[in-house]
Amino acid sequence: MKQNLILCGFMGCGKSTVGRRLAKLSGREFIDMDSFIEEQQGMSIQEIFASLGEPAFRQMETEAARVLTQKQELVIASGGGTVLNPENVRILKKSGKILLLDAPLAALQERLKFDTQRPLLQRPDRREFIEQLYKQRFPLYQQAADLVIPAGAPGNVVARTILQMLGEEEMQ
Ligand code: S3P
Repeated sequence: MKQNLILCGFMGCGKSTVGRRLAKLSGREFIDMDSFIEEQQGMSIQEIFASLGEPAFRQMETEAARVLTQKQELVIASGGGTVLNPENVRILKKSGKILLLDAPLAALQERLKFDTQRPLLQRPDRREFIEQLYKQRFPLYQQAADLVIPAGAPGNVVARTILQMLGEEEMQ
């Protein structure tokens, strides 16, 4: 059985795009943790934050990590805040490797400029806030990760780089 590959990193770093590619290339199933939580709750992430609050969402992430890691052969795109909780890191690591997608701050700011979906970013000082949060979180992402992958390139290129770094063959 192939171990799980768990993608982590800041919002907009390409976890879902790269994850889909990587799943195809490596013969694993792709799971997006945010989408999994949305399906389980029958609510969007925005609705969960608005009606139940962020702490409730963070608990759902831990529960999702528990449930998803019962399976193998997955590529899991975690949320941008998932691996900030050491409990989540412990749970996820038992099932595979945590890979950090390291996209440059300026690229993240650019990609997130017009985002309307992410509750944390709906504020007037978005650009500065992203910088502040990025600097605060980056060391924690690094601590959690088994591998750090430069992620400025297009998704398929990043996915291939990951497979090479892992020494795995491409399935297609
Ligand atoms: C969050 C990132 C989001 C989502 C939620 C909180 C964060 O996921 O889980 O809005 O704390 O960084 P993406 O990284 O997929 O945008």
